Amino acid sequence: MPEIAFLNGEFLPIDDAKVPVDDRGYQFGDGVYEIVKSYNGRLWALDRHLRRLERSLSEVGITGITVDEVRERILETYERSGISRALVYVQVTRGVLPRRHAWTSASLKPTLLVTVRKFQGVPDELRRSGVEVITLPEVRWGRRDIKSINLLPNVLAAQKAWEAGAYEAIFVEGGYITEGSHTNIFAVRDGRLFTPQEGPHILPGITRGLVIEMAREEGIPVEEGPLSYEALLEADEAFLTATGEEVLGVVSVDGRRMGSGKVGPMTWRLYEMFVDRVERGMDSP
Ligand code: PDD
Repeated sequence: MPEIAFLNGEFLPIDDAKVPVDDRGYQFGDGVYEIVKSYNGRLWALDRHLRRLERSLSEVGITGITVDEVRERILETYERSGISRALVYVQVTRGVLPRRHAWTSASLKPTLLVTVRKFQGVPDELRRSGVEVITLPEVRWGRRDIKSINLLPNVLAAQKAWEAGAYEAIFVEGGYITEGSHTNIFAVRDGRLFTPQEGPHILPGITRGLVIEMAREEGIPVEEGPLSYEALLEADEAFLTATGEEVLGVVSVDGRRMGSGKVGPMTWRLYEMFVDRVERGMDSP
């Protein structure tokens, strides 16, 4: 059951996968990525991830690779790994070129990397206790809907959270919540869900989308729109969504207790619904 990489046509042990120093991903962060998870030997929501990847590629003008090609490579790398519960990292950079800002050439060959690693998921204890988050001023670029590998502000924010003993850092822009360094966020008030609307200010998370669909199917009202910092603090519950976290309860924001200070009933309900959907492989369309 090896953890393996696919890099430009070759399957390799991850440590042996090397890119040239002139790869534009290495020098400029000129690339996009996806993280896909598998459950019980099946890649979860792969079509949704590929649709988002296709959009990211098109928004940054990376050509010379098709999403069908990427899908084939992902499936083959995953199959070769034989790992039932895996985290699959997929990265496409613009390619290799002596360093200059504009790439100019239309014939660059993008660099495709896929790695497959075992994944444990969120420890049970943390899932039961819920997590603390801090907020930080939004400092990222204006196209956070593109899943770019330029993650320096996200990395710095996550480190600040870790140093503060918190699980995640949530960005706040002009008094309104955007998203976490690597998660989307929801608030729950009077049985309704509130989450920032899609747009250039957030990543349209796959888990976010699934949770919204699931909730609506169950008749739980969902409001997608501006979510102020005060509204988050005053919510009954809050939770994070992401491929790794699934649905993870938030129990404090900036050291202020949320609701009961415990993972709330709506968060549990949605988490259990999510797990049920995963077990039944319900990730279409
Ligand atoms: N993070 N917002 C940001 C900024 C993210 O980086 C992510 C995902 C999400 C949640 O998206 P999804 O539900 O599709 O995983 C929201 C990935 C997992 C990461 O970079 O590790």
